Amino acid sequence: MTATEEPGREGAALVPALSPWRPAEMGRDLGCGEVRPEHVGRTLAVAGWVHRVRDLGGMKFVEIRDRTGRLQLVINRAEAPEAVVRAAENLRAEFVVAARGPVRRRAPEAVNPRLATGEVELVPEQLWILSTSKTPPFELDAAADVDEALRLRYRYLDLRRPEMFRNLWLRHRAYQVVRRYFDRHGFLEVETPMLTRSTPEGARDYLVPSRLYPGRFYALPQSPQLFKQLLMVAGLERYFQIVRCFRDEDLRADRQPEFTQIDVEMSFVDVDDVLAVAEGMMAELWRELLGVEVSLPLPRLTYAEAMARYGSDKPDLRYEPAIADVSDVFSATGFRAFRAALEAGGAVRALRAPGGAALSRKELDGLDEAARAAGAGGVAWIAVPEPDPAAWRGPVVKFFTPEERAALAGRLGLQAGDLVLLAADQPERASVVLGKLRLQLAERLGWPRVREWALAWIVDFPLLEWDEEEGRYVARHHPFTSPRDEDLDRLETDPAGVRAKAYDLVLNGYEIGGGSIRIHRRDVQERVFRAIGLPPEKARERFGFLLEAFEYGPPPHGGIAFGFDRIVMLAAGASSIRDVIAFPKTARAVDPLTGAPAEVDPGQLEELQLRVQPR
Ligand code: AMO
Repeated sequence: MTATEEPGREGAALVPALSPWRPAEMGRDLGCGEVRPEHVGRTLAVAGWVHRVRDLGGMKFVEIRDRTGRLQLVINRAEAPEAVVRAAENLRAEFVVAARGPVRRRAPEAVNPRLATGEVELVPEQLWILSTSKTPPFELDAAADVDEALRLRYRYLDLRRPEMFRNLWLRHRAYQVVRRYFDRHGFLEVETPMLTRSTPEGARDYLVPSRLYPGRFYALPQSPQLFKQLLMVAGLERYFQIVRCFRDEDLRADRQPEFTQIDVEMSFVDVDDVLAVAEGMMAELWRELLGVEVSLPLPRLTYAEAMARYGSDKPDLRYEPAIADVSDVFSATGFRAFRAALEAGGAVRALRAPGGAALSRKELDGLDEAARAAGAGGVAWIAVPEPDPAAWRGPVVKFFTPEERAALAGRLGLQAGDLVLLAADQPERASVVLGKLRLQLAERLGWPRVREWALAWIVDFPLLEWDEEEGRYVARHHPFTSPRDEDLDRLETDPAGVRAKAYDLVLNGYEIGGGSIRIHRRDVQERVFRAIGLPPEKARERFGFLLEAFEYGPPPHGGIAFGFDRIVMLAAGASSIRDVIAFPKTARAVDPLTGAPAEVDPGQLEELQLRVQPR
């Protein structure tokens, strides 16, 4: 057979003749990336996209690519069939081709160790062009350096890159592992509505206008929270769903307006039961996706501990150094800044930063600036070239007595080369600031990781938090979260001190899941509504259907939702969830590929009885 279907056409270089797809002849024997030395001598058919064409006088090297990888085709002008030579002349990047011919071993000097197929090449006896391509707007090999908006605009090209295929493949496998796991543990997969009412997650809703009921709106779910609780009332006992959620909030690298949760709810359980099922799923995912054994049970930190020691409710526990409270060391200090903070009920907290003594003066000043940007009055630093306090450097050292220095050295276990950062402030703010610097220093100083995968539970979150703007307490998780039994009596007397049966799962500094045991008792629910200043009629208006269902025998229940995109991002080693979502939105919530959000036809608005009112 010929390479082009119209062999006689001279000057066809710009408009190469295309072959129809004939599976019997061209159908692929192997993926491009699967050809190996064991195939040498066999004649194989392969097909894919032209990755690169190199012309070395008499020889033409055409690398073709499919989802399995890349393979080199070699065309020797003097030896190859004329039709093959002619087709090869016409090839450009991203043309789709099929080739058939013997596999041969590359000459030793031509072996490419960076390519899985680098020891072999295929010598086409037939070469067909199946479709052509415009010059791509960016070079796929260099896509990592290309403006992301351009990659998203041409996402179908971006996804041709092996890294992106690998991410989607990993995501696919994660779906399968999750489904198998929950199926095995007796969970039912149930779909819940996308067109629904506002749910209580607390971000802004995406609304969908109703045509049949002008002026009324569906809300896209921020999570299936209320439905999964209804499923427990319905007696399902064990529910899960891999489900899209929609939140109109400020976006970041780990946030998308639509994202995917692994959503779980269980009946007749308490905290330990939910955590056991949830961490079992994580262990299975890491085993199946990465071949990593996660040791269970996972460590648990209370919210209070996490905030004090890491200044964050999603601490990155890959790094050892933690924040210490050294208030007692300075209880009688003459250093005015510290004394003022302590007298105002604050704390002095310290972070030992191994290797930090080597930072330049400019970098140390930068830390102070970062602290101020994070809302603190600043941080004091001490460089510790030697543990002996006589060798310490830093603007505040002179204010400390020898006893204070010795106590500090002992408390922090100072070693040569350390930097000490001190923050005197309200206790939480001091830790939050040091927590931010801790992450910057871990990166800057290349701290060793004591573990590659730092999974941990954060438990005992406060039930309520004070909302300055609203001038009232609001639910930290959502208003159906159960207080801890022993804190119940403080709901009225000390609302801020009530801890919840709520938990988050963190991995390497990311919050990858969160949930709670729910309130199933009407009296408790009413007290919580009262504590957040939600009058009964308002509660009924928003969640009436759930409250009504709870009048018909709600079982004790609780659950969790995982951020599926974040989990896959971390497993893939990606730095943004956009890299593990096939068609994500930009940080400005735009889809450059489809142009969404877009204006709509005036007729559509009219039908919905909507009018756009420019501000
Ligand atoms: P929560 O709001 O904590 O809980 O969400 C659960 C997990 O979802 C992920 N996540 C996100 N991922 C990407 N983009 C976003 N915009 C985004 N927002 C949240 C996080 C988070 O831990 N209904 C409750 C769960 C429950 O109580 O069972 C809920 O949605 O990883």
